[in-house]
Formats: sequence, structure tokens, C-alpha cells
Amino acid sequence: MTKSPERRLRSRDWFDNPERMDMTALYLERFMNYGVTPEELRSGKPIIGIAQSGSDLSPCNRIHIELAKRTRDGIRDAGGIPIEFPVHPIFENCRRPTAALDRNLLYLGLVELLNGYPIDGVVLTTGCDKTTPSQIMAASTVDIPAIVLSGGPMLDGWHDGELVGSGTVIWRSRRKLAAGEIDEEEFLDRATSSAPSAGHCNSMGTASTMNAVAEALGMSLTGCAAVPAPYRERGQYAYRTGRRIVEMVQEDLKPSDILTPDAFVNAIATVSVIGGSSNAQPHIQAMAAHAGVDLDPHAWQQHGYDLPLLVNMQPAGEYLGERFHRAGGVPAAMWELLNAGKLRGDCITCTGTAMAANLSGRESHDREMIRPFADPLMERAGFLVLKGNLFDFGILKASVISDDFRARYLSRPGNENVFEARAIVFDGSDDYHHRINDPSLEIDEDCILVIRGSGVIGWPGSAEVVNMQPPDSLLKRGIQSLPTLGDGRQSGTSDSPSILNISPESAVGGGLAWLRTGDTIRVDLNAGSCNALVEDAEIARRQAEEPAPRVPESQTPWEELFREKTGQLDRGGTMDFALKYRGTSRKLPRH
Ligand code: FES
Ligand code: MG
Repeated sequence: MTKSPERRLRSRDWFDNPERMDMTALYLERFMNYGVTPEELRSGKPIIGIAQSGSDLSPCNRIHIELAKRTRDGIRDAGGIPIEFPVHPIFENCRRPTAALDRNLLYLGLVELLNGYPIDGVVLTTGCDKTTPSQIMAASTVDIPAIVLSGGPMLDGWHDGELVGSGTVIWRSRRKLAAGEIDEEEFLDRATSSAPSAGHCNSMGTASTMNAVAEALGMSLTGCAAVPAPYRERGQYAYRTGRRIVEMVQEDLKPSDILTPDAFVNAIATVSVIGGSSNAQPHIQAMAAHAGVDLDPHAWQQHGYDLPLLVNMQPAGEYLGERFHRAGGVPAAMWELLNAGKLRGDCITCTGTAMAANLSGRESHDREMIRPFADPLMERAGFLVLKGNLFDFGILKASVISDDFRARYLSRPGNENVFEARAIVFDGSDDYHHRINDPSLEIDEDCILVIRGSGVIGWPGSAEVVNMQPPDSLLKRGIQSLPTLGDGRQSGTSDSPSILNISPESAVGGGLAWLRTGDTIRVDLNAGSCNALVEDAEIARRQAEEPAPRVPESQTPWEELFREKTGQLDRGGTMDFALKYRGTSRKLPRH
């Protein structure tokens, strides 16, 4: 791309204002202490923010504290001035009641930083799950040139000669623990072995998925997402990203140029073929909303369901991030889509060229890891969108439906992809943990486990709890999973074929509020429906007579505000009032 015609950078308003010399002097005074001369600040060089997401509270992103040094070098070498600042930390595993509360909080904070300080372009440092969508959402609102630098996954985890992937090993080992196959020490050993180095989760959980999404959207350099954090190339990407953002400012290449409707279709297609996390659904929906793209929640089925699973990575497949990177990473998976005519190749990207050009020559040579489109790991492996009398929207990640599950529930002769099951309803995860092994529930293979009170408002934040494991008695008999359903989410590292992200949730009067243990639920994947077989009159009676399940009180000011402002997962859990503020950088904040 070429330089756009001479434009006054927004930072000039701070550092070069002949009418308000007193203000200019004030601005210059402290910045000079950090090694920048007044001449340089007034010279017209672009000021590039580095949104630092790494800290001890967000260990998955801590690699960025090192990487930022290389990014600064790149910015300097390209003629920019780097300014590094922290963003609100998010740590998926540790934040209670859920890290999902913080996506919108980081978003709000970053909007204010980008809008209120003299920043002409920004490097968004991403890694742990929500650190990617939150920052892209903020960059869209402000709409200054922005580029994503992923921190990269950890090295592959090994235990007793077996690959153990982040999160996935926990869910699998919990089942072994419950079945009495391993003891607690072995459980801890397996879990810690899955985290051998700096970086984010090394399976195709939400972190790897969302960094792949950033690349698929065109927001990061080609091949950036999958490079493991400790690899040499990671530092090189940091340097090149720093160089490139300076050029992007010169070209005035903004999120609004990149984040088009087609870019989001590409992201959905990419998530589908890599076996990506079900959390990509609300995050992509939210990024689209903040980019001003009206993405129909059914786009997941329309543009994703029919696509095959190509990437052989846990939890849908076998391997982990290192091999994925060596096999070609995200560009190699996207190359398959492009070659099969399933990708919109003319989308402009942060590189300044179209996606198709970026992907040229990126075919994988490791066909065990990245399968050819014509010879996939699984056909129709994307996301199914379901609805019925219990909810208007729920999704099911097809790529994690195991052969065993398929044989038991989805292969009944003459009734393929249809099953009926008896609902066992839990009010939140405490209730589930207290009662799952209660023999009086008589849970057997013909049951569906349902959790409510775990959505955006009910939790609050929407919890990763829908991947409920069967009672120990069933696990001991070798039954690894029951159908599950809920108004929360589940970890992207989980291999549970759940119906989740249900909207509207029970806490706002969704159908799960009137569902009772013992009701029969009919799931028809052909029709995309999920219904409780309860008469309309009975539903009306329950709705009129029974109070909705109780939700816990807010414990912090933000929880209260979040509950007041945040919408349902089908629409991405965005704060809708914020959507109208797109393009704030076009109007400078007053002195
Ligand atoms: Fe942070 Fe998985 S917990 S990336
Ligand atoms: Mg998670």
C-alpha cells in the first residue's frame, strides 16, 4: 500500500499546538524524562502505543514483557516513537467469578487510553482467551491503525510419552480420577506437565482459536498466531509487527478498512476447520458488532457447519501447538479453504495486501497435522445453531462429537441425528457438584445434564460450566460423556459435545427457567431444533406460577454495572450502548 496523502497525525494536537504553547510545554515535560527529546516529539513522527497485556496477573501473556523490547526496536527502526502502557489484566484460569466479566472491562479501559492519549497507532499484545477480542473491539471503537501481536502458545506438554494439552488434560484426567484410574498426585502431575514454558494454552482452546481468528480477520502478520512463545521466530514477529504498524499509520490503514463482513465470514470458516473453541462465537459476534458489521448469529451454521475438520489438534484431534506451527499454522489451514473456494481472498489485511496474496505458497507439507480439504479428519465439523421452545439460540461444536457419542445418540436406525433424553436440571455449578452423584437422581445413559443460572446475567459473566461430566457410576462403566445443555459456556479445551451459549438465559426469563428434572428433551440436529416435550399450557402455567431461579447478588460495582449493560451471548455479550461510539478518533478529545 502507498502512503496516504499528507495528514496531520492526531498526536500533533498534543505536541504541536502553536495556539496553546503552555499546553504543549506541559505535555512535553514528562514524556522527555522517558528518553524522548522535544524535537522528536514535535517532529511529526508517529507515536505508537504498545498495549501491554502481560503481567504477573496474566501469566499467559507475560512473554509480551520481553517481546515489547523487540517491538520497540521495530517501531524505532521504522521511524516511530513507542509508548508502552498496561491494559487491564485477564487470566482465564484464575479470575473469579469468571474472566468473562473482564473482556468488556478491558475493552472500556483500552478505548479510553487510545482515545485520550496522543497515540497514532497501536500494537495489541494478545494471548490468553479474552485478551484478543477485547483489544480488537477497542481498536474498532477508536479506529486508529492497529495490529495484533500474539504471544504464542506454550511448548507442547508431555507426560509419560503422551502429549498432554492445556485444559484438555484436565477434563480427561478428571474423568480418570472419578473412575478410579489415577490418583490425585498423578492428576496434578499430568496437569502441570501440560504447561512446560511461557505462552498461552497449547491446545486449540480459546487462546489459540482467538489468535487464529485475529490472523484470519487480517489483523496480524501472516503466520503470527501459531509461533510458540519461546521460539526464535516469536521475537522476529514482534520486531516486524513494530515496523509494520508505523507503515500502517503512514498508510492510514485502520480496523474499519480490515474488519469487513467478508473478514468475519473468513474468521468463522477458519474456526470451523481448525476445530476452534465454542467461545469464538460470542467473541466474533462482539468484534463484528464493534466493527459495525451486522453478523447474523446463524452465520455460524451458514458459513461454518458444512466445513470439514482439517487441523489435528486437541481437543478435537491429537496434537498440540508446536506441530501445528511447524505444519504451517493458520496460513496453511486457510490455504486449504482458499484453494477449495471457501475463503474470501480479496479481504485487505494489515500487511497492506489481500488475504489471498498472503496465503500464496503456504500449503502444508505435514498432512497428518493439517489435512487436505478433500481428505479431512471429519466432514461437517463446524458449529450447529439450534433453537426451540427452551431457547432462541444455542450452538453445538460438531468437531468434538466422539465416535462413541455418535454411536450412542446420533445413529439410531431411521432416526439419525435425533435423540430424546430425560433432563436432570442443576441450578449453577455448586448444585451440580453437590448432586451429580446423588443416586436418587437415577442418572443413566438416557439423561441430558442441564445447567442454568450460568449465563451473562445469572453468573454473572457466563461461566465455563456446561461441559459437565457424568456421575462416577457411569464413568466407571466407561461412559465418558452424556449430552449436556446450558446457558453458560465451556472451555475451548473441552471435548464435550454440549449445547451451550444458550440465549436467552434462565436469569432473564429464558426457557430453562421453567424446565424441570424429568422433562423429556428432544434434540434434532437435522432440523436444528431442541425442544422440551412439555405442553404449551403447562409451560404457561409454570411461567405464571413459579418464581424464576434465584441468581446471586453482585459482589462488586463492576458486576452490577456489567449486569445492567451487557447483552446475551447470541449477540456476543456486548454492551450495546457502546456500539454507537465507533470511530471516536475522528474527533479529538477536548483539552
Ligand atoms: Fe490463559 Fe489458557 S488460561 S491461555
Ligand atoms: Mg476458558
